[in-house]
Amino acid sequence: MQSSTKSLGFTGKLNHIGESIFSKMTALANLHQAINLSQGFPDFAVDPKLVCLVNHYMEKGNNQYAPMAGALALREKLCELTNAQHGCNYQADREITITAGATQAIATALAASIREGDEVIVFSPAYDSYIPMIELNGGTAITVKLAHPSYAIDWEQFKLLLNHRTKMIILNTPHNPSGAVWQDEDYQKLQEFVRNSNILILADEVYEHIVFNGAQHRSVRAYPVLAERSFVVGSLGKTTHSTGWKVGYCMAPAALMKEFQKLHQFQVFSVNHPMQLALADYLGQINLSEIGAFYGEKQAFLENLIIKHTAFKPLASFGSYFQLFDYSAISEQKDLEFCQWLCTEKGVAGIPLSPFYLIPDNTKTIRFCFAKNKATIEAAIERLAKL
Ligand SMILES: Cc1ncc(COP(=O)(O)O)c(C=O)c1O
Repeated sequence: MQSSTKSLGFTGKLNHIGESIFSKMTALANLHQAINLSQGFPDFAVDPKLVCLVNHYMEKGNNQYAPMAGALALREKLCELTNAQHGCNYQADREITITAGATQAIATALAASIREGDEVIVFSPAYDSYIPMIELNGGTAITVKLAHPSYAIDWEQFKLLLNHRTKMIILNTPHNPSGAVWQDEDYQKLQEFVRNSNILILADEVYEHIVFNGAQHRSVRAYPVLAERSFVVGSLGKTTHSTGWKVGYCMAPAALMKEFQKLHQFQVFSVNHPMQLALADYLGQINLSEIGAFYGEKQAFLENLIIKHTAFKPLASFGSYFQLFDYSAISEQKDLEFCQWLCTEKGVAGIPLSPFYLIPDNTKTIRFCFAKNKATIEAAIERLAKL
């Protein structure tokens, strides 16, 4: 069937948005059989114990709808772990919803909060789903540029952008793409700015357990002035190396969560049941504080080989699946062209940084994902060493 949006007189609400850079680079990597260090997914297996648990719950017959808010066992386990880690008191019966990945939690929190004319402050570079979802709901994204190469926040610049239209602030720590993490001083500053205001916060903490190089993950949930106005988003996909299962969560105080669930019940209703039950058991069997060291080793492995064998210059990473590298000693090309060249000619896919900005930057920096087997990283370095 042939149809075009033009002939139907139809303009899509995200008409101006194309395919994401992650899908584009992965497609290019597949086409050229490149080693894919672009998209953020592990190339190693999910723990067989977790797979067995999913199998167990499927065989046991837990194959029908989960409760709308999520399986109680998983809500209880996540609240218990969070409350112990951050000294807070989230209630499993009314302050958490299990979502179809963090992506849905972000979209639902924004749809529940943003109206025509609202402004949302976003620190850029930023994860690619925030701005389209703000715009879809009639809001305007106001960006605060993070300082290169530290990706620290310029709080003076931030202060200038706050006004009566500011409805929400989106923060992401550990940060994709830079690997920077929020410090206590950052939270203290934010607290100063939002105290006595109606400003909401969306805290994207999907890499909450993936911190290393001496860093610690601090959450808005540990700061009462922030927690009382925050939707906090997490991803079991990131935490348990199972990104394809798309299980995430959102935590928020009861009044905010009630509004969140009004949308969730019609957008998704509920998320796959056996995975939730298995994850609840599994989270009780593992030590979450070991995940940081596991990824820290991979990050150091990539960084050391890059330093030893290539002309890329590493930037510091303290968390997430990612590390940034400066390629100015290798090429004068802009980052998108450089990544395309690297993928098609040298067989290694990375992600250019400019699509993470509303106004593209030209810092000659690209992102590699180190959530990979050592053999994958070694094979990539072998190709990069020939540059
Ligand atoms: C910063 C950030 N937020 C949200 C997500 C989405 O997480 P999920 O796969 O659970 O939807 C990602 C995934 O890459 C991410 O990097």
